[in-house]
Amino acid sequence: MNIKKIYLNNFRNYLNLELELNDGVNIFLGENGAGKTNILEALSLASVTVSYRTRIDSDLIKWENNIAEIRVDYERYGVTSEIKLLLHKRGRKEIYLNGNKSAAKDIVGNLMTVVFSPEDLMLVKGAPSIRRSFIDREISQASPLYIDNLIRYNKVLKERNSLLKQIKEGVSSRELLDIYDTQLSEYASFVANKRMEAANRLDGIAKEIGTEISGNKEKFGLKYFLSGIEEVCKDNYIKKLKEIREKDIIRGSTGVGPHLDDLIFTINENDLKKYGSQGQQRTAVLGMKLSEVIFLKEEKDEYPLLLLDDVLSELDEKRRSALVNYLKEESITTVLTATDDSYIPKDMGKIYKVTKGKVL
Ligand SMILES: Nc1ncnc2c1ncn2[C@@H]1O[C@H](COP(=O)(O)OP(=O)(O)O)[C@@H](O)[C@H]1O
Ligand SMILES: [Mg+2]
Repeated sequence: MNIKKIYLNNFRNYLNLELELNDGVNIFLGENGAGKTNILEALSLASVTVSYRTRIDSDLIKWENNIAEIRVDYERYGVTSEIKLLLHKRGRKEIYLNGNKSAAKDIVGNLMTVVFSPEDLMLVKGAPSIRRSFIDREISQASPLYIDNLIRYNKVLKERNSLLKQIKEGVSSRELLDIYDTQLSEYASFVANKRMEAANRLDGIAKEIGTEISGNKEKFGLKYFLSGIEEVCKDNYIKKLKEIREKDIIRGSTGVGPHLDDLIFTINENDLKKYGSQGQQRTAVLGMKLSEVIFLKEEKDEYPLLLLDDVLSELDEKRRSALVNYLKEESITTVLTATDDSYIPKDMGKIYKVTKGKVL
């Protein structure tokens, strides 16, 4: 997967930018606040249609403007395509693939990306929802069927929760829940199964590459934790939902299902959150992101685009050169940012200088 061109109009601090990128490593260099991360954000938007920095699209529009445009030309399996997003201050965004208006779910998986930024440490330390979105984003890029099931699951879950509230208020009857329980269980087992399978794969890959990038003998891994049931199957979910029905009605929400599952990052089989140092956590998350890159390559036969935000300065010399060599050996197209060129090994890739929303 290669990026040919980025075009930005009224996006963040860019008034107008048209930029050709190289295959291989692209390095965006500039002071804090120059607009480096904004470039990665735009690429990731074209990939998954939502920003990893904000949930509010209007944040992305250049101040005092009403529309932002992002256009990315990329090459996949040797074929060039274009994804375009129009963000509106009010109203829904428009998304186009090769000029055809498309739904977000049909875009995801075309321009594949994996982002690694300093905030990703929250994957270890933060709320379970962060880890669930991590695995969802990964599987979604490999499988449109997963996106479908996840959307359906969330829809039925929402409907079931409002029914629970209506029952509590006495305006609906309990019998109606049976249909929802059956549907929910079907999607729940699909989603949970896929996530467990992906977590297992990531765990295996991370253990293989872990030692390489950590420079020593630590083994990083990932474990999936089911909430409320022991083993994933439709009948187990149906049974559990019946069992907790009265509790669900009282609290007005559903107490079992993949929306409550979690993932745990491990170091030598122990919980990384409890036992890992800051440096180990950072290396582990980087390892997990690289595992995701390999996972997508195995699934789709092509590496995703790797977006590394301010990562080099956080690694020590040994890990930094291990990472750089790895990217080169595997020819993984990478876009990375740095404030200081002292962290950039010589001949690493093409350097772009960023100042105040301009790129030279
Ligand atoms: N909606 C917006 N309109 C105009 N400028 C913005 C907007 N959002 C962020 N900025 C500006 O973008 C800059 C931050 O860009 P960023 O890419 O995060 O910088 P860095 O180079 O440090 O990664 C800041 O100067 C900020 O004021
Ligand atoms: Mg930045």
